[in-house]
Amino acid sequence: MKRRNHAKLRALLAAEYERRSPRSAAIHREALQHLVDGGSHTIRLLQPFPPRITAARGAFVTDEDGHQILDFWQGHYANILGHNPPVVTEALARAFGSRMGLQTGFTDALQVQTAELLCSRTGAERVRFTSSGSLATMYATFLSRGFTGREMVMKVGGGWHGAQPWGLIGVDYHAESAHSFEEQESRGLPPAVADQVIVTRFNDPEMLKKMFEKHGDRIACFIFEPFLGSGGCLPATAEFLHAARELTRKHGALLVFDEVISGFRFCAGSIARLFGVQPDLATYAKVMGGGMPVAAVAGRADVMKLAGRGGGVKFSGGTYSCHPASMLASHTMMEHLVAHEAELYPRITALAETARQAVEQAFSAGGIAARCTGRSSNAIPSSSMAAVHFPHDPATPCDSPEQTRNPDVCDVELSDTVLQLALLLEDVFVMHGLGAVSGAHSEADIARLGTACRNAARRITPYL
Ligand SMILES: Cc1ncc(COP(=O)(O)O)c(C=O)c1O
Repeated sequence: MKRRNHAKLRALLAAEYERRSPRSAAIHREALQHLVDGGSHTIRLLQPFPPRITAARGAFVTDEDGHQILDFWQGHYANILGHNPPVVTEALARAFGSRMGLQTGFTDALQVQTAELLCSRTGAERVRFTSSGSLATMYATFLSRGFTGREMVMKVGGGWHGAQPWGLIGVDYHAESAHSFEEQESRGLPPAVADQVIVTRFNDPEMLKKMFEKHGDRIACFIFEPFLGSGGCLPATAEFLHAARELTRKHGALLVFDEVISGFRFCAGSIARLFGVQPDLATYAKVMGGGMPVAAVAGRADVMKLAGRGGGVKFSGGTYSCHPASMLASHTMMEHLVAHEAELYPRITALAETARQAVEQAFSAGGIAARCTGRSSNAIPSSSMAAVHFPHDPATPCDSPEQTRNPDVCDVELSDTVLQLALLLEDVFVMHGLGAVSGAHSEADIARLGTACRNAARRITPYL
């Protein structure tokens, strides 16, 4: 089917947005003088300019123009309890009031307790903390290559592991290329990296088997997200996870789960445990950081040992690793999630399903076929994640990144940019068409999302 051109609709939405957000527009003009594109993270810089916020609490953020925006992005999916949950902010306020808070360059008991808690909830034997998910996946790659003495890293097309060399291949769908999910995503990478990364298809155990048969003796690790986030909000199948475990073991490669999104998102621990598959290494960040910069590599003691003295892998965490305030936020958050696991996860799961249905119905009433992904499955019974896709052919299942990210199959511009702007006019913020439901969202908020989508559909339909 022919791709749609949304230029006219985008211009109309942008003009209306500009009229109702003059303060954010003015700050953006100023921002452009000093910040590249007006900020430091491209995904936050929606066009024509982002809302500049002044406060964030629970399900809402307030912007410079006084809009109370219902937020489903929630800190890049990190804020499972909503923005600035008192359980964390009060713990931090107490710490800062008692001369503990900023970096000291020493170590303390809290990081021991945080590591114990993380290991007990994930089945890992050892953990080392760092400060971003990108660093965690990079260190997991160093460890895998160091441990196996092999060079190659296998990942899935559409998998995002942050901005580190081995993660920057095969992230975006390049419709114009014969290797749609194998392109290098950044200039400036060491040239060898392109030859060290092999891309396979998510949820395709047959292809995985063939890849291992062909390259198995050179593969250091197979890294993937058991719940594919930016690739389309798609859960791995149990079959794929078990095949990955078996094949990595058979071919002497390490299995690395990137749980930066999934860790503590679907239960108070790792998604690996829900599947009953233990990886050799896993990376965590987002939810387990409690809103602060915390990330971890956790896994087998014999592999993690390489990060230690004499181990030969330079994984030293960084100046701000185990920042006292970050460790406090992380420990407080994980402890809270463990204590409230039985109520929190079923509640946000039910709300997320109501949200998916409300969004699908709102667009179908407006004559636009919409399909939400991220639904709970047998293996992952509690999913609070959701994305919306607009397949050109309504019968498209939207169950692989080759479909959800391919503009010839799904209207990616509509879900990623047009819808975002149209919903912002309704004071609702979404990313990739929806986002993550948090413990701070209510049924009324989900009903409001449904109304906002109906209004957005009314604006969009005449221009399709
Ligand atoms: C699955 C996954 N891995 C790694 C990263 C990188 O984490 P960070 O942004 O903390 O560097 C992200 C970030 O979105 C992610 O979703």
